[in-house]
Amino acid sequence: MNILVIHGPNLHLLGRRKPEIYGRTTLAALNASIKRHSAKLGFKTRIFQANGEGEIIDLLTANSAWADALVINPAAYTHYSYAIRDAIEALGLPAVEVHLSDISEREPFRRTSVTKPVCRAQFKGEGAFSYFKALDFCAGLK
Ligand code: DQA
Repeated sequence: MNILVIHGPNLHLLGRRKPEIYGRTTLAALNASIKRHSAKLGFKTRIFQANGEGEIIDLLTANSAWADALVINPAAYTHYSYAIRDAIEALGLPAVEVHLSDISEREPFRRTSVTKPVCRAQFKGEGAFSYFKALDFCAGLK
């Protein structure tokens, strides 16, 4: 399977951004572990990080013909981006939402996900393992 992985805004700061919440793993290290896990499952991956809403929609569109499934951490856009929600729905790729932290246990504004209803599953609160679980879930889509 071809898996498109998208990390949303501020995730380029992993490692130095609120380590008490997001840990000390950098985005490069997280991506390396996503690649390793994907390889074990026999997947090919394309991994991107983008800070802009439009940029994310453009990445989704540009890679939608290649990808069999999408693993996305929309980051703060999770909570309010109807544009990203609509793009996921419009492209019709099976999507899995991921969060490093447990958004249901943090500030009230993080408890809403406008993207979750257009995703097949959501994995949260387990750091890199949230991504691994999302990849395992994709394996079940075959
Ligand atoms: C996040 C949670 C979001 O609320 C936050 O805005 C992020 C990261 C997570 O992975 O835990 O940037 O998506």
